[in-house]
Amino acid sequence: MSREDDIRRMSELVDLLEYHTRRYYVDNSPEISDFEFDALLRELQELENKYPDMASPNSPTKRVGSDLTSEFASAEHRFPMLSLQNTYSSEELGEWIDRIIREIGEVEFVCELKFDGTAISLTYENGELLQAITRGDGRRGDDVTNNVRTIRTVPLRLQGEDYPSLFEIRGEIIMPYASFDRLNSEREAAGEPLLANPRNAAAGTLKQQSSQVVAHRGLDCTLYNLAGNDLRFMTHYESLEAARRWGFKVSEHAKVCRTREEIEAYIAHWDTERKALPYATDGVVIKVNRYADQRTLGSTAKAPRWAVAYKFQAEKALTKLTSVDFQVGRTGAITPVANLEPVQLAGTIVKRASIHNADQIAALDIRLGDMVYVEKGGEIIPKITGVELSERPAGSTPFEYITHCPECGSQLVRIEGEAKHYCPNTSGCKPQIIGRIEHFVKRKAMDIEGLGGETIELLWENGMLSDIADIYNLDPIALASLPRLGEKSAANILEGVRISKSVPFERVLFAIGIRFVGETTAKYLATHFRTLDAIAAATAEELAEAEEIGSKIAESIIAYFAEDNNRTILDRLRSAGLRFEIEDKVCTSNALSGKNIVISGKFEGRSRDDMKALVEEHGGKNLAAVSANVDFIVAGDNMGPAKRQKAEKLGIKILNEQEFMALISSAENTATDATPEPAAEAEERVVVDTKPIQGTLF
Ligand code: IVH
Repeated sequence: MSREDDIRRMSELVDLLEYHTRRYYVDNSPEISDFEFDALLRELQELENKYPDMASPNSPTKRVGSDLTSEFASAEHRFPMLSLQNTYSSEELGEWIDRIIREIGEVEFVCELKFDGTAISLTYENGELLQAITRGDGRRGDDVTNNVRTIRTVPLRLQGEDYPSLFEIRGEIIMPYASFDRLNSEREAAGEPLLANPRNAAAGTLKQQSSQVVAHRGLDCTLYNLAGNDLRFMTHYESLEAARRWGFKVSEHAKVCRTREEIEAYIAHWDTERKALPYATDGVVIKVNRYADQRTLGSTAKAPRWAVAYKFQAEKALTKLTSVDFQVGRTGAITPVANLEPVQLAGTIVKRASIHNADQIAALDIRLGDMVYVEKGGEIIPKITGVELSERPAGSTPFEYITHCPECGSQLVRIEGEAKHYCPNTSGCKPQIIGRIEHFVKRKAMDIEGLGGETIELLWENGMLSDIADIYNLDPIALASLPRLGEKSAANILEGVRISKSVPFERVLFAIGIRFVGETTAKYLATHFRTLDAIAAATAEELAEAEEIGSKIAESIIAYFAEDNNRTILDRLRSAGLRFEIEDKVCTSNALSGKNIVISGKFEGRSRDDMKALVEEHGGKNLAAVSANVDFIVAGDNMGPAKRQKAEKLGIKILNEQEFMALISSAENTATDATPEPAAEAEERVVVDTKPIQGTLF
């Protein structure tokens, strides 16, 4: 086949794949099998490999994502992204409607569902997706175009011809319940923390560094507002219909309403019906339909006066409290968990709920056998929010909180000012021991493969593991002879243990499980103090000098090192060869000695981490943000315009990758003043002006 034939076929394939993507994802009526679809996609991919310069950035092959990591550049919205005024009661909503009618006279409204996801603004130029920006602060957001391209319901090229040459369309990126449940079961199986709700999951997914990951998460995008200078429509409703024709997914449930009664009926209908929808909604948005009326009403600085959001009451369910379990965490903290008669709530069946602590049980006067209200808040486990007293069984008695640990029988203690009870038996209480070991071996800590929860328990039961230091004294023969383990798993564990000895100090510090010292705090402490001994010797005031360390954390660190048992364990870990101090990076030269450098954007030859490693190898220090302390910036492609503007304002020099490489290779011996003169090209770079266009709808 000639090049011309191939290129013609490429364009044909793009059209075909776009058509079938729409049939499948937007219209829900596929015409070809997944197999046939994949074959077309593969054919296109092969042609694109052959003619990389002919591949469009919006090609359907880009839907599968790339595993290149990307720092999100920030970008300005052409039209500010306003938020909505909220109302929670029908009186308030009624006042809003009356006010609009007073101002406008006869008016039409459009009622829509309020989708519970994360807002997005898509820009299309000549029918092609140009950019996708998150809301950010309403004026600027993150450019997440590559990730949004992987969402099948976002058209990469529009249908028809009557779309404006340049416009933005706003909508919501949502994670349907089905994708959310799948993602959480995968996370549960992998021992990763669960995501609290589809909204957080959608927002978190969109900010994933790898678009390949995004492509697998099953996001969806529904559009609800058009923004542009020359929209040619008289009403919002018409614009939604047009957007649907152009290939966007637009909700079928938008409805024109003319009276307060119609609006109230819409709300009442969806307050119940939404429970059957496959995605989360948290209210109804009411918008004035005619653009001329929208202009008359105008906007405040924050929100348009022509729209309002009516928020549904959080979904509640009433069910019976059958019993209360008390869980003991790795720190000894006791958490009561309610067992309920299973009940349907906001898309899932709920069997357990949290009650937090003894005070809360007393405050709500929760009793066994009560009918209780459960609600989903921001957390994963729903919570009990009240008791239906009218259904309380006769003869019930107030709940008696436990006084002794359900696991080891020790008398519980309550630290002043804290709501929780604690089991003080740190070295003898099973869930605390197992919990601490589980924490120690987890991926972000010592990352010891092969030592899962069950194995830890098995080793504990066989007297081989009673604290984290025992991990480094495991007897290979005893290990291999344990039931359910065998030689292969034993060897695997021992290899994992051996490798863990080179885990960097900051992760060791996180792994030992000092209360309130999470991953980030451990990093700050390690950077500030450099050695474990220095941390152990520090006073509360000295600890508080490290970044992010407040008095609560400082006290907890001091209490940890004051305990003999902890000090013995640390000595044993030290003898085992764990890293107790920050490792000094090997310096290849001191070309960048004393220089503070920001690495930003994507580079051609190396990853951003490699660039940062080079800075350290040559004696420089990496900083994350542009400030007056920065000596120079090394900028790759797509360095954020905000960073660039700030750098220019502060007069900080910007080098490109080649200039930086030249600097470190030439200055290896002459490291007196490494601040370079920027090349002419670097200085001539222009900041793109994306000021909002005047006289728009928003
Ligand atoms: S219209 C200027 N319509 O709710 C008005 N917003 O609380 C632009 N939302 O930022 C928004 N469903 O993220 C509109 N049908 C809908 C919506 C909707 C969800 C979100 C959107 C907005 C937030 C305000």
